[in-house]
Amino acid sequence: MRHSRLGTRLAVVLTAVSLSMAIAAPASAGGGDHHKKKTLGELAEARGRYFGSATDNNPQFTNPDYLKILGEEFNHNVAGNALKWYATEPQRGVFDFTLADQIFDFARKHRQSFRGHTLIWHNQLPEWLTTTTWTADELRAVLKNHIFKVVKQYKGRILAWDVVNEAFNEDGTYRQTLFYNTLGPGYIADALRWAHQADPKAKLYLNDYNIEGIGPKSDAYYNLMKQLKKDRVPVHGLGVQGHLALQFGFPTTLRENLQRFADLGFDVAITELDIRMILPADDAKLATQAQWYADVTRACLAVRRCVGITVWDYTDKYSWIPQFFPGEGAAHPWDENLLRKPAYDAIKAVLRAGH
Ligand code: G3I
Repeated sequence: MRHSRLGTRLAVVLTAVSLSMAIAAPASAGGGDHHKKKTLGELAEARGRYFGSATDNNPQFTNPDYLKILGEEFNHNVAGNALKWYATEPQRGVFDFTLADQIFDFARKHRQSFRGHTLIWHNQLPEWLTTTTWTADELRAVLKNHIFKVVKQYKGRILAWDVVNEAFNEDGTYRQTLFYNTLGPGYIADALRWAHQADPKAKLYLNDYNIEGIGPKSDAYYNLMKQLKKDRVPVHGLGVQGHLALQFGFPTTLRENLQRFADLGFDVAITELDIRMILPADDAKLATQAQWYADVTRACLAVRRCVGITVWDYTDKYSWIPQFFPGEGAAHPWDENLLRKPAYDAIKAVLRAGH
């Protein structure tokens, strides 16, 4: 008793001493705690958000310079490919988490929260799944087993799962995938229920591109999520990928769109941000890009339930874009030499200011 009271008093004295030291510290020493927060992750955390990056095993994990920045700058991480179906269940019933664990362990070591991407997607499926003709009962069992095995593997250790990725077409109709065509639209609710049973603490998301602004595709999510909520299906958030391109203009209804999902009672996140341009890059395009990164960050900060932003890898060196959009690129906040671009400072300025 005596000891603990003494301990409490000591703690009070020490706190007072360190407080007075902090107050006495000259501005040139850093201007207090706020200015010591230097990384995107730290600044986002001070705003109650995360700032993350996607990454990949190969070649990223062979480059120490790349890993240094990945570990230092971000407080959230997502495997760009390693948790997709082709990687986790390459043969029916044979699961492999080697690649995912490599990234997950890195994230844990660097105290980064982790996003699971993705349980159901029409791309990067294993051959055994796409080359078989399934009855609905068979496919439902295969899907359920996949979700239970993968989600349980990381139970309690994953902040959020992209349960279904890219379920809608541009006009808001359901995408005709193996899952939709065989099981009907109810596969989404089933998948969410199974994922929730497998890890009740993980936040469950639907995730898509071209839903940054208000339009037919984001309307489809709005209506679906409203209905899922009414049906008491466990779904917690909408992931807005954010693959933007300078030539298409900024999605000016981004904030309004995020807010309407928040108002419905959902979290929202910018999950795969990159802002590409037609090459070659020049100062003017990079300045516009920086402005856009700032505007996206501002939109997220303006919506209380926008929980964080993730860039779809942080450097042009390992961009997915040149393979998919030849002649376009330079989309990330760091360049090919791992040097920061104007976008980096623009994001930081918004995170520091808080708006
Ligand atoms: O694994 C093979 C390897 O064996 C082979 O040597 C190499 C040669 O190209 O290809 C490797 O596969 C590549 C795979 O990524 C793994 O690295 C594919 O070619 C490549 O097309 C594939 O691209 C991925 C893409 O999804 C597939 O659609 C990108 O890395 C990944 O960043 C991208 O991520 C998607 C999100 O999951 C969903 N939203 C859109 C986003 C961008 O397309």
